[in-house]
Amino acid sequence: MGLKSLEITGFRNLQQVNLIANEDLNLIVGSNAAGKTSLLESIFFLSYGRSFRHSQTKDLISYEHDFFRLISDLDTLGSRIGIERSLKEQTIRINRQTVNRTSDLATLLPVLVIHPDSHQLISAGPDNRRKYMDWGVFHVEHKFIHSWKMYKKALGQRNAALRLRQSDKLCQLWNKELLQHALIIENLRNDYLKQIRDIVNDLSEELFPGHVINLEHKRGWPEELSFADHLSHNLLKDRDKGFTQSGPHRADIKITVDGKSAQTSISRGQQKKLVSLLKIAQLTLFSDSSEQKCILLYDDLPAELDLHNQNKIMKILSELNIQIFITAISDDLINYKSWQSYKVFHVEHGEVKEKI
Ligand SMILES: Nc1ncnc2c1ncn2[C@@H]1O[C@H](COP(=O)(O)OP(=O)(O)O)[C@@H](O)[C@H]1O
Ligand SMILES: [Mg+2]
Repeated sequence: MGLKSLEITGFRNLQQVNLIANEDLNLIVGSNAAGKTSLLESIFFLSYGRSFRHSQTKDLISYEHDFFRLISDLDTLGSRIGIERSLKEQTIRINRQTVNRTSDLATLLPVLVIHPDSHQLISAGPDNRRKYMDWGVFHVEHKFIHSWKMYKKALGQRNAALRLRQSDKLCQLWNKELLQHALIIENLRNDYLKQIRDIVNDLSEELFPGHVINLEHKRGWPEELSFADHLSHNLLKDRDKGFTQSGPHRADIKITVDGKSAQTSISRGQQKKLVSLLKIAQLTLFSDSSEQKCILLYDDLPAELDLHNQNKIMKILSELNIQIFITAISDDLINYKSWQSYKVFHVEHGEVKEKI
């Protein structure tokens, strides 16, 4: 079922929270500045080891504490996970054992978020779109993380050689490693996007009727050249800049609506709807290929979409095997009564109570 319980200590304005979640839908309601987004942020932190609000650790620790702690019981193999973080230290525990890698948490607790800045997935630079692909590839294909780490390591070494103006031979010493893992990353991303594209097609009939949405993987170097040839052709240019200018670390997704770039051709409102569609496509693919339940955090749904689209999205979400946390100012704003099961939580001045 995803997340069964959540215990929060000293995270933003949430001094002490204990809740037992519903396995399907959890509605978090409360007025402005009550702590709703912070609650979603704590769940996100448990999966990613960071915030989705570009915040630093010191912003996340409550003004009244010098550390925060998040603990959750999961359904996945009955696991219990926890993070404790002070300004100086971070401890991650899985079933009471200390672990070093945040990626172990992500594997146990897959989480996606849609929040008021999520339209940047479409409107901003390629970074967000690479993260979009890589979240999916990471959860589907366990060899991805290894190849990505090896690639980044080789890239760092090559860049250091370029920066220090070392010989051609030394600069190219890392090419073999770089090429090997670039190819694996490219193929995994290609496969993932192909599957996402098909689901996006189906979903767009409902959410963008009459329009054609397309996603094209831009692998980070020209289509007509192999990466090996491209790297040797570009050695002089790379030397000039002092770093490797192309490769999977510069990949992107070209998103078009009716053949035109979604970045420039559609309104902010449509971009928000498109982001929901893209995330739903990921959730659909995840549910189809995993026994685990993915969690969707949807911050301020009523403010993000008009009622008509909200209802469509709620209906699509209700048919997926996922666990959802949605925030809103009031539960009247959300059409949730037709859900199989749900819980409503009320947040006020950082206190969270289940509404019965
Ligand atoms: N480190 C912190 N310690 C205590 N309060 C904080 C901290 N960071 C933010 N806040 C406050 O927490 C409150 C809740 O914020 P937020 O979760 O964004 O509210 P909501 O989403 O319900 O509008 C805000 O008043 C904010 O100023
Ligand atoms: Mg908020």
